[in-house]
Amino acid sequence: MYAQMIESEVECEDPQKLKEFQNRIDAGDKIEPQDWMPNGYRKTLIRQIGQHAHSEIVGQLPEGNWITRAPTLERKAILLAKVQDEAGHGLYLYCAAETLGVSRDELTEMLLDERMKYSSIFNYPTLTWADMGAIGWLVDGAAIMNQVPLQRTSYGPYARAMIRICKEESFHQRQGFDIMIKMAKGSAEQKHMAQDALNRFWYPALMMFGPSDTDSVHSVQSMAWKIKMNTNDELRQKFVDQTAPQADLLGLTIPDANLEWDEHKGGYNFTEPDWSEFYAVINGNGPCNVERLAARKKAWEDGQWVRDGLLANAEKHAAKIPVAAE
Ligand SMILES: [Fe+2]
Ligand SMILES: [Fe+2]
Repeated sequence: MYAQMIESEVECEDPQKLKEFQNRIDAGDKIEPQDWMPNGYRKTLIRQIGQHAHSEIVGQLPEGNWITRAPTLERKAILLAKVQDEAGHGLYLYCAAETLGVSRDELTEMLLDERMKYSSIFNYPTLTWADMGAIGWLVDGAAIMNQVPLQRTSYGPYARAMIRICKEESFHQRQGFDIMIKMAKGSAEQKHMAQDALNRFWYPALMMFGPSDTDSVHSVQSMAWKIKMNTNDELRQKFVDQTAPQADLLGLTIPDANLEWDEHKGGYNFTEPDWSEFYAVINGNGPCNVERLAARKKAWEDGQWVRDGLLANAEKHAAKIPVAAE
């Protein structure tokens, strides 16, 4: 199905239809699954929503790693709820992608054979409990920055999924910041762990907004279609401006000697991440890429019997064959 859509992209789109479509977007209309849409719009959305869904699911792994080692029962319950939320986000987003004509199985297969990607941030290891704080504070914080504007995106099912997701992301960010407060205001050793977590997650968090605008290939068309609402650099700047005062409040130091308030531009000056590291991680060479993909493959294979059972049951019902009483 997806392959057919890629092939059909070579067909010329009707210029009149394209114009009407753009007019609808410009007028702030929501595009719904049954509406006509250009192939490029459909394809870009499938890629974006699919990668977003994969990120939610793979994103459970670094934190799931700490559920059994959370320091208190309360922290364990909170982290468990947060990781379950991420599974829910993945499912809403797979459903939104399915309305564009691609199945969840196809999307999963594309993740597993590496035709589709997920956010580079989840290829970094979680070494200490303070990493749960840094992830909630910085990674969920960056996710909110990316996702709040997407509540106004032009594709109806995606925009609506974002509304609930953003509410839950706010909780995630607060719980992360709460862990950071406890650690940063705790013993010297705890403060050291909090600082170390900030040091390791700062630049990977900045990378979450994607490459610099000058190198971002998809931006212009995606912004015209309101699939993307802000440029990568705009969002990165907003994130730094929001986060720097929070680090001050924690008494922690952002690992950037160039970080400085710029009165003239009304924002912070800061050092860009190392983009060669970003491309290495995106291309499969981050610290945990192999481990993350292996975990997803194992989960997919282990779940085969469940999918087979559900399918067999559905087929029995469809054929109206009574299920034998045990
Ligand atoms: Fe999420
Ligand atoms: Fe989250």
